[in-house]
Amino acid sequence: MAAMKNIVILISGRGSNMEAVVRAAQAEQWPARIAAVISNKADAKGLEFAASHGIATAVVANKDYPSREAFDAALQSVIDGYAPDLVVLAGFMRILTPGFTAHYAGRMLNIHPSLLPLFPGLHTHEQALASGLAQHGATVHFVTAELDHGPMVDQVAVPILPGDTADTLAARVLEQEHKLYPRAIRWFIEGRLTVEDGKVHVDHTTH
Ligand code: GRF
Repeated sequence: MAAMKNIVILISGRGSNMEAVVRAAQAEQWPARIAAVISNKADAKGLEFAASHGIATAVVANKDYPSREAFDAALQSVIDGYAPDLVVLAGFMRILTPGFTAHYAGRMLNIHPSLLPLFPGLHTHEQALASGLAQHGATVHFVTAELDHGPMVDQVAVPILPGDTADTLAARVLEQEHKLYPRAIRWFIEGRLTVEDGKVHVDHTTH
């Protein structure tokens, strides 16, 4: 059997996507372990879930560092202490320096609550509602220096319904995120993902 892969998950808050990943890894017996959950906020709710599941947790608080570069360097050394094969951003609300994204090139994923390339950045649900589009969704992508612009691994669409608010729409998307993200991460762990010319190919053959 192939060696267990190490996954490090970064969060800033609730951590429901992290929770979905932890549960899927366990239930589906991935050849991977969640080596650590790291937050830039000491009060991130998700840290409690991780700790209660026996996962190592750490806080690297951006407010303790004088610059983005200093914070990213500190964060990188904590992450690398867990020898990650994959770094998973799960509601990690930080703009990352180019040096940091280069260090994890090809081994860092993010989930963004829109159908990229539509609506990078914040307030995606409000923007989707204001757009008049019939559909919204979420995207898993490799992280590159440009915010919310890396090669896309997978997407899910949900309808925008009459009477939707940002909250009802966000909830409909989030439910799908919890399926989309674990599946994409599993593909990575299973070695199914290759990137060529900025596009991701998923190998769906059994192996
Ligand atoms: C999710 O909607 C995710 O797509 C976005 O931030 C939210 C995080 O939620 N990046 P949670 O912390 O995973 O519950």
